[in-house]
Amino acid sequence: MSQKTNKTGIKQEKRRDFLKLGAAGVVAGGMVSSGVLQASAKTPSQPLGPFFPREQSPIIETVELKDGSPLYLSNDSDLTQLKGSKEKAIGEEIYIKGIVTDSEGEALKDALIVIWQASHEGRYNHQGDSRNVEFKHPNTGQSIERKLDKDFQYWGQALTNEKGEYVFKTILPGFYPADLSSKWYRPPHIHFLVAPKGKQEFVTQMYFDVPSLDQNSFIQELNDKDLILKDVLSGNSLREDIVVKFEKTKITYGEEALIGQFDIQL
Ligand SMILES: [Fe+2]
Repeated sequence: MSQKTNKTGIKQEKRRDFLKLGAAGVVAGGMVSSGVLQASAKTPSQPLGPFFPREQSPIIETVELKDGSPLYLSNDSDLTQLKGSKEKAIGEEIYIKGIVTDSEGEALKDALIVIWQASHEGRYNHQGDSRNVEFKHPNTGQSIERKLDKDFQYWGQALTNEKGEYVFKTILPGFYPADLSSKWYRPPHIHFLVAPKGKQEFVTQMYFDVPSLDQNSFIQELNDKDLILKDVLSGNSLREDIVVKFEKTKITYGEEALIGQFDIQL
């Protein structure tokens, strides 16, 4: 399966056409058409996994809002810094942006998006993530300790704007062992939960392709072997829709940042 298909064949051009914009443009709601029309396919759903942030789950306190709302809504869309702290999270800073659309390709505004992920050393801020905290790198044999980063936010939320756009600032998560006996390691990935207004929640995971990083070949090796990603790609899904390419892109003040686009079609 290499052909992208969609049910309607129309209205699909709204996806992806702010790929070339910097993150600041996205936040400001800026929109430029790349002129490239691409058909799209429904984003595949993937398991929630065991580390979704719940009331009793955090190991360390990285909560910004204490207003009584559910824990998973307690943090903003910038995971690289906790409110009120001067410290920054350790790791390769990235921006993830995208457009959330319905099955017809229409932008969904005010859709809530929650993401959660591991630290740069592959550890979730979750009581359930306590096995194999120390393990050996499968290729080099080097000992790795999956440490928590007290300055990392671990999860956050964003709301899509009127064009269905969202943006998160975070760090590239580390890989971690899923099952050492079968030598299964989860590649770097970020979990997404999308709750559009009046519609059913949708859960998936996003993977990485970061050509500018030395470790990218190892990341692709892990992607190729990952049982969950393999399962997803055995269906009709396209690799490029779920394994997102991150490239150095100019943002404001002449600065560059690693930006990737993950569009989600429900
Ligand atoms: Fe995970």
